[in-house]
Amino acid sequence: MLCFIFLEILYATTTTARPSEGNCSIDRGILTCQGSLLEYKQESITALDLSHFWQAELDLKDIVKKFPEVQNISVKDSGIHTIVPPGIPNDIKVLCLKKLLITNISRKFLENFPNIQVLSLEGNQLEELDNDFSADGLKQLNLLNNTWNCSKDLDWVLGLDKSVATDLDELKCHGYPYQGRKLLDIAHYMKDVKENCTARCDCTLEQVKEDPSSGQLYPIIMVNCSDRGLTELPEHFPRYTRIIHLEGNYITNLKALKIKSIYKSLWDLYLDNNEITSITVLEGSHWLSHFRAFSLKGNKLSKLPAFAFDNALMKNQHMPDGLRLYLGGNPWRCDCLFIPVFQELVLQKYAQQIKDIQDVKCSYVEGDANSLLPIVHLSRSSVCRLSTEYSLQEGLDLLNAVLASLIVFVLGKLAYDYYHFKKSGRLPWIVMKMP
Ligand SMILES: *[C@@H]1O[C@H](CO)[C@@H](O)[C@H](O)[C@H]1NC(C)=O
Ligand SMILES: *[C@@H]1O[C@H](CO)[C@@H](O)[C@H](O)[C@H]1NC(C)=O
Ligand SMILES: *[C@@H]1O[C@H](CO)[C@@H](O)[C@H](O)[C@H]1NC(C)=O
Ligand SMILES: *[C@@H]1O[C@H](CO)[C@@H](O)[C@H](O)[C@H]1NC(C)=O
Ligand SMILES: *[C@@H]1O[C@H](CO)[C@@H](O)[C@H](O)[C@H]1NC(C)=O
Ligand SMILES: *[C@@H]1O[C@H](CO)[C@@H](O)[C@H](O)[C@H]1NC(C)=O
Ligand SMILES: *[C@@H]1O[C@H](CO)[C@@H](O)[C@H](O)[C@H]1NC(C)=O
Repeated sequence: MLCFIFLEILYATTTTARPSEGNCSIDRGILTCQGSLLEYKQESITALDLSHFWQAELDLKDIVKKFPEVQNISVKDSGIHTIVPPGIPNDIKVLCLKKLLITNISRKFLENFPNIQVLSLEGNQLEELDNDFSADGLKQLNLLNNTWNCSKDLDWVLGLDKSVATDLDELKCHGYPYQGRKLLDIAHYMKDVKENCTARCDCTLEQVKEDPSSGQLYPIIMVNCSDRGLTELPEHFPRYTRIIHLEGNYITNLKALKIKSIYKSLWDLYLDNNEITSITVLEGSHWLSHFRAFSLKGNKLSKLPAFAFDNALMKNQHMPDGLRLYLGGNPWRCDCLFIPVFQELVLQKYAQQIKDIQDVKCSYVEGDANSLLPIVHLSRSSVCRLSTEYSLQEGLDLLNAVLASLIVFVLGKLAYDYYHFKKSGRLPWIVMKMP
C-alpha cells in the first residue's frame, strides 16, 4: 500500500516535470505547442503550430510519422538552424518557417514536398538562394526579412516569379556595402554590369548611392582594364561607369575621351604608365571641366595647354576638395617658354589638387640640376638662363630690338629727307619714282 502511494507520487512528479505537458493544446485539428512536441500520435491532426523550440534541428520525418495527415506546418520564433526534409511521402501543403535561424535552403529542398503550395521563410538568416532554386509548383513564397548578401551572385533574384514571390520588391540587402538597398535593383545593376562589360576587362558594381536632391538611386561601377595590352581607350563599358582603370597599357591618344559621349558620366580615369604624349586634344572637352580624378602618371607628356587646362579646372565642380590630379613621372620640357606658365597656371594654382606634385619634374638631362628638382620649386631665372635652345622670350626680345631700330631708322630717314628738301628743293628719290 505504501509502495503504491509512493509509486503514485513518483508518477505525478515525473509527469508534471515534463515541461511540454501544459504547453500544447488541440483545437479543431490544430495542434499548438510551445517548447516541445508531445509524445502522442494523433491521426486527425492536420495543422501544427509550433514555437519556442530551442533545438538546433527539426526533423520533418518525425513529424510526418506522428501526424501523417498534417498539411499545414508552422514553426516560428525558435532556435532551429536546420530543417531536415521528411524524405517520405507527405501531404504538406503549407510550410511556414518564420523567425528561425535558417541560413541555408538547398535547391532540392522543395523536391521533398510533392503537394506544397506555400513556403514562408520570413525572418531567417538566409544570405542567398541557390541560382537554380526552383519555386515551381509554389503558389506563394515569402522571403522577407532575411540577411540577404547582395555581394553574392544575385541571378536567383531575377529567376523568381513575382506572382509567386510576392514580396520580391520589398526584399532588402543586408550589410555593407548595400545595406537597406532593394535586392531587385542591385540584381538588375549587377546583370547589366556583367553583360555590358568591356571585352577582356573586369567590371564591378562598387556601391549604390542615393542622389540627395532627387532621392534617385545610382550605381557606381568600376571597370578595370589594367595591363590588358590596350592601345586605345575603350569605347564600350556599362552605363553608369564612374571609374576606369587603364594602368599599364599602350594608349597613346585621348581622342575618345573628348568625342565619345559615354565618357561624359565618368568621374575617375587612371592612365598611369601609358604612352600618352599630348593632352591638347582635351582642350574644351567636357572631361576637363567635370572629372574627379585624372591620373597621367608615368606617361610621355612634355607639355600641356596650360591656359585651357586652367580654364577648365576653374569650372570643375569637384574643385577644390574633391579633385585629384596626377602628373608625375612625365618628361616635362624645361624651357623658358613653357615652365613659367606651367608653374603659375597649373602647379602653383592647383598645388592642393596635384597629389604627386613633388614628382612633377623636368625630363632628365645629364648635368642639369633642374631635372632633379620638382618643377614647382624651380626658379624662373634658373630655367631661363640654363635653357640651351633659344626660347621664344629671347626671340621676342630680339624681334622687339629689331623693330625699335627700324622705327628709329625710318624716322631718321624722314627727318633727313625733309631737311634735304628744304635745302635743295629736290624731292626724295622715292617720291619722284612714284606715279
Ligand atoms: C510552458 O508554458 C508555461 C506557461 O505557459 C511556461 O511558464 C513555460 O516556460 C513553458 N515551457 C516551455 C518549455 O516553453
Ligand atoms: C493552412 O494554411 C493555409 C494557408 O496559410 C490557410 O489558408 C489554412 O487555413 C490553413 N489551415 C489550417 C487548418 O490551419
Ligand atoms: C547548405 O546545405 C547543404 C546541405 O543541406 C550543405 O551541403 C551546404 O554545405 C550548405 N551550405 C552552406 C553555405 O552552409
Ligand atoms: C523584420 O525583422 C525586424 C527585426 O527582427 C522586425 O522588427 C520587423 O518587424 C520584421 N519585419 C517583418 C515584416 O517581419
Ligand atoms: C557577403 O558575401 C561576400 C562574398 O561571399 C563576403 O565577402 C561578405 O563578407 C559577405 N557580406 C556579409 C555582410 O555577410
Ligand atoms: C585591376 O586588375 C588587376 C589585375 O588584372 C589588379 O592587379 C588590380 O589590383 C586591379 N585594380 C583595381 C583597382 O582593382
Ligand atoms: C546593356 O546592354 C543591353 C543590350 O546591348 C542594353 O539593352 C542595356 O540597356 C545595357 N545596359 C546598360 C546598363 O548599359
